[in-house]
Amino acid sequence: MSSSIFKAHILTLFPELFPGPMGHSITGRALSEGKWSCTATDIRDFATDKRKTVDDTPYGGGAGMVMRADVVAEAIEHAKKETPNAPVVFMTPTGTPFNQGMANRWAAGEGVILLCGHYEGIDQRVLDALVDEEVSIGDYVLTGGEIAVYPVLDATIRQLPGVLGNDETLAEESFSPALEGLLEYPHYTRPEEWRGQTVPEVLKSGHHAKIDAWRKEQSIAKTQKVRPELLKKK
Ligand code: ADE
Repeated sequence: MSSSIFKAHILTLFPELFPGPMGHSITGRALSEGKWSCTATDIRDFATDKRKTVDDTPYGGGAGMVMRADVVAEAIEHAKKETPNAPVVFMTPTGTPFNQGMANRWAAGEGVILLCGHYEGIDQRVLDALVDEEVSIGDYVLTGGEIAVYPVLDATIRQLPGVLGNDETLAEESFSPALEGLLEYPHYTRPEEWRGQTVPEVLKSGHHAKIDAWRKEQSIAKTQKVRPELLKKK
């Protein structure tokens, strides 16, 4: 599984949005080096009528349109042909909040199929039948799942072997095992004094044990301040 390249397959009404930001910087370099592949398939290609209809009015009435189960199912099954073991993930504000653990788990597999909804939603029957996970990037509603795919895919791709160089290490970063699930400590570089603010003395001491202790203390203080619920989990 890990010998072949990681395949990201996005099912969307806007395939031109991909690879988008992931075609640049670190993920873009990895894409051109063949460390992962990015396929965006237009769900509309699977519409069967002349007008290429993908949505219809909801049973029971109400505002908005619903994406049809038959059309979306064909798109998912098309993607599954290439990566039968990749999870089918539906991007939705009603999904499980995305986290580092999901990125790590997906990065260890053959790929991921990311389904983007538009309009009011997707017919529940196709979600029940063919979707493995429903994922949200936060408690707010976007106009579609495409923008939500960007952070999810970026976080996954940077976990693939060889994607990050030495300067971009995974070792000690927020949510990493090395930091025991805490947020990362602050960083400083030259100049040593900037607008009257100096660099903490301990970082210039060369005393590694003291530096490690200071960083741990800073991580705990930062986590306590902005994400106290992460400390309660421990
Ligand atoms: N689609 C619309 N809003 C979303 C969100 N918050 N997360 C994931 N997909 C979405």
